[in-house]
Amino acid sequence: MQAYIIDFANLLLRWLHVIAAIAWIGESIYFVMLDNGLRTPKAAEDREKGVFGEMWAVHGGGFYHNQKYATAPAKLPNDLHWSFWKAYTTWLSGFALFVILYMANPGFYLVNPSSNWAWAAGMIGWQANLLALAFLLGGWVVYNELCKRISPNMNRDGLLSVAVAVMMIVVAYLSTQMFTGRAAFLLTGAVMATAMSANVFFWIIPGQRRMVKAMKAGEAPNPLDGKRGKQRSVHNTYFTLPVVLLMVSNHYSFIYSHELSWVVMVLFIFAGALIRQFFVLMHAGKTQPAYPAVGIGLILLAFWVAAPSPTAGNASASEAPSQAQVSGLIDQHCTQCHARNPDHAGFSAPPAGFAFDTWEEILGHRGQIQQVVASRYMPLGNITNMSDEERDIIAAWEE
Ligand code: HEC
Repeated sequence: MQAYIIDFANLLLRWLHVIAAIAWIGESIYFVMLDNGLRTPKAAEDREKGVFGEMWAVHGGGFYHNQKYATAPAKLPNDLHWSFWKAYTTWLSGFALFVILYMANPGFYLVNPSSNWAWAAGMIGWQANLLALAFLLGGWVVYNELCKRISPNMNRDGLLSVAVAVMMIVVAYLSTQMFTGRAAFLLTGAVMATAMSANVFFWIIPGQRRMVKAMKAGEAPNPLDGKRGKQRSVHNTYFTLPVVLLMVSNHYSFIYSHELSWVVMVLFIFAGALIRQFFVLMHAGKTQPAYPAVGIGLILLAFWVAAPSPTAGNASASEAPSQAQVSGLIDQHCTQCHARNPDHAGFSAPPAGFAFDTWEEILGHRGQIQQVVASRYMPLGNITNMSDEERDIIAAWEE
């Protein structure tokens, strides 16, 4: 019953998380598009009012006329629309999901027993949880310091972008060494997503509040507040596509259980940012197909890097095992979780929908079984201590 309640809570939180994220990212993409698509206002009276750009649009059967003021309108209305709850809800629901899924079961989901780093492979549950929290917090602190130190007046934003890109390579590498592949992808995505939400919480919204307060008091707002909000929201734009990929990656073990999964992750992050750049420029009226072309090139490179090696598990060394040998190994190492009624207390239903109760079911999933066993993703957390010899037997199994 407890496992069922957790599964149900997981479902509801995920629902909320996806909806909030769609609303947030959708709005953020819309505003970047709007900002880049603004044209000089046609009417002289608008220009005199201080309108610096406008966009006409048709949507849902109506016509819209957006105007952006260079600094501030002469009189600020009281019913300004603010955007922040979507960002906070996305982060809070995402973090809650991480807690009930990963942190409630760190031995399975966070600790990577085959890590190259002995201390990481040997972590116990609470240590892994603490490390995951430190990783998220550390990611924000480093990113924020980079912004503050490299481009405090927004005049070295190019250099800052390079620094943030290098930081993401380091984050991807460290995460895959310290955690399971699945958690590493999620946590790297969460480092970016935390930076995005924290940008809203610590910089963009407080800056806007100061600007509004100054205007209401009849003073000129500090232009740095506006510029800084813009700097951070530009970063958020380039984070969006990579974050979405990393968040959905946990359904695709072939990308995160690979030895070079950090390279695959980096390729996808840069591909996402480049593809986003194409759209940002397109909305400003500039079509630059080189960006998505390079992005697609990086995805093809990721396809090549993550491709399963034909000699995985050293299959040639052993003879094809018998049905009894294979089903014996599956029984010993898999069915406590992968059964219609799992014995393992953590599961109310077969994980990922895979039940291996009958030989037909085992045979029907031969490809997936061989893949997850060769990549060491399964048995989860290697709780049953599957040996390399046993993995070789599974690799040598033929129909
Ligand atoms: C401790 C419980 C546990 C054990 C033991 C276990 N698994 Fe899993 N398995 C899981 C969970 C949980 C998932 C879902 C994780 C996910 O969504 O990536 C999963 C997912 C899978 C998947 C789907 C992966 C994908 O690409 O989505 C396959 C295939 C699989 N397991 C096969 C096996 C095999 C084969 C064994 C035995 C060698 C095994 N598992 C042992 C818990 C377990």
